[in-house]
Amino acid sequence: MESISQDIFQKFGYREIRTPIIEEKSLFVKSIGEETDIVTKEMFSFKDRGEREIVLRPEGTAPIVRAYLEANLHKTDTFQKFYYMGSMFRAERPQAGRMRQFHQIGAEAIGSGLPEIDAEVIKLLTSLLDAMKIKGYKIRINNLGCKEDKTSLSKTLRGVLTKEKNALCDDCRKRLDINPLRVLDCKNESCRSLIRGAFKSVKFLCKKCDEHFNKVLACLDRLGIKYELDPYIVRGLDYYTQTVFEVTHPGLGSQDALGAGGRYDNLISDMGGPQLGAAGFALGVERILIVAAKQGPTVDPHDEKVVYVATMGDAARKKGFELIDLLRSDKWEKKVVFDMDYENKSLKAQMREADKLGAKFVLIIGDDEISKGEAMLRDMMTKEQQGVKFDDVVRTIKGKIE
Ligand code: HAM
Repeated sequence: MESISQDIFQKFGYREIRTPIIEEKSLFVKSIGEETDIVTKEMFSFKDRGEREIVLRPEGTAPIVRAYLEANLHKTDTFQKFYYMGSMFRAERPQAGRMRQFHQIGAEAIGSGLPEIDAEVIKLLTSLLDAMKIKGYKIRINNLGCKEDKTSLSKTLRGVLTKEKNALCDDCRKRLDINPLRVLDCKNESCRSLIRGAFKSVKFLCKKCDEHFNKVLACLDRLGIKYELDPYIVRGLDYYTQTVFEVTHPGLGSQDALGAGGRYDNLISDMGGPQLGAAGFALGVERILIVAAKQGPTVDPHDEKVVYVATMGDAARKKGFELIDLLRSDKWEKKVVFDMDYENKSLKAQMREADKLGAKFVLIIGDDEISKGEAMLRDMMTKEQQGVKFDDVVRTIKGKIE
């Protein structure tokens, strides 16, 4: 998955960034939000020897913005497109598709407020899933509006729903005080119907945010990306503004988000930088693997060609070791793996091993071959064998593979 992703990221002009696993706790409290689930109950936090509050990173966006500002990129090379792959940590109750250490593959485009960027990150995400041959995913998208729009929506929701407070679940009653937006994505049925009733008449988006979102949707239409508008997506991280989206898959059960993201136009300024637009997403690697396993063979792990060197006897092993080095040292257009036996197995066992590895060719060397100065090249598909002079081994295999 990582190497497939690297190819796609490179095409889109995104470059890799690696940030530390450990960050200061305050980074996430300020960016994800004090009252969010991640910050209140899901961070692995510690005090280090210097009594500093540190955490294992629960996500990648805030650390990347921190690194961007620390490197002064906002002053020198404002617009940056980054991708990342790595472990994230959240102290959640483990279940299928929800781990305490999991992996994300993500991207962040920092320094642009253009609608093309919202569309590009979504296109990037679908290109990754398509390249991984994931089928049947669904994109849901929403517009949260700017900071002011979010505040006005929060106020309206609090006003309308306080009247119905007793009908809300315990969590939503708390959310109503702390962060009323989170009520929108409550999974509880009675809360949902109440919210849907109350939400119908709410108008909170300013003209600018409305226009931006329409342009994003027009870009997506031009790119042929299918999506569903869902006014109830709010996301569990407070830094989002305007466009937010989630990608779900029916094969995942209750933890059905394969990935998610959106625009975060205030995060850079909230962290002490200038006012700059930015957008990104992260995919959950383990969740993609769950879907891939259910779909049956998708990405072929043996997309590389394997050439196995099987030897009998000391002289043959020495020659085989030399030949495999020659093969590996050459330049190959295709992905080729050269391997041999390191356990002194019998020839039969070596052939079994070659089969297991899906070898296309096996180079067989025994005492006979040593005396003739050639190796026996076996095509594992056709079962045909031919003698090849040691000096011709690289050229012959090249001719057959490339
Ligand atoms: P997030 O929705 O918290 O967003 O996580 C993104 C994806 O990571 C989820 O959709 C899911 O696939 C995966 N994921 C999250 N928690 C777990 C877990 N405990 N176990 C397994 N997989 C998990 C973010 O993290 C944002 N930083 C995304 C983003 C980037 N927004 C803008 N840029």
